[in-house]
Amino acid sequence: MTTIQLLVATTSGNTEYLADQLAEQLQAQGYTAHVHYEPDYSDLVEAITDDTLWLGCIASHGAGDYADSMLAFADDLHAKKPRLETLHYAVIAVGDSCYDTYCAAGRDFDESLAKAGAKRLIERLEIDMSQDDPEDKASTWLRSLLNRM
Ligand SMILES: Cc1cc2nc3c(=O)[nH]c(=O)nc-3n(C[C@H](O)[C@H](O)[C@H](O)COP(=O)(O)O)c2cc1C
Repeated sequence: MTTIQLLVATTSGNTEYLADQLAEQLQAQGYTAHVHYEPDYSDLVEAITDDTLWLGCIASHGAGDYADSMLAFADDLHAKKPRLETLHYAVIAVGDSCYDTYCAAGRDFDESLAKAGAKRLIERLEIDMSQDDPEDKASTWLRSLLNRM
């Protein structure tokens, strides 16, 4: 059975709230889901097995940077360039379309994992906080993701 690790990049808490909602939905369906509010790179990489899914819930801040809680993780991911062929992943990018760097951190996370050889299970979801209902959009997307597992 797949273990789902939710990696949360948040500064002001919106994405943390969203990840909590998703984890509850996953657990209600019998999945093992852990939410990592400040993901530890080494611990998460070491824990990867054939049945691990990383679900990145990644808000952009600054000028397209990762939100605070994943700055250290992103630095490690970029510097260490791991090989992650056994990993499956999916990404929710959270941002606001009034920024030129819309969803840049989530896009970077998606590209970085693809370059590391990890397998994307579904197209990235982008949530525009100035337009979308985050929970509604994410719940619909989550159902599509679960259909692919
Ligand atoms: C100072 C600041 C910078 C931001 N920069 C970006 C950005 O570069 N790209 C983007 O898509 N959204 C940007 N946003 C929008 C945030 O991603 C959005 O508010 C999101 O809900 C924050 O999530 P969080 O509460 O989990 O930190 C920025 C927001 C703030 C307050």
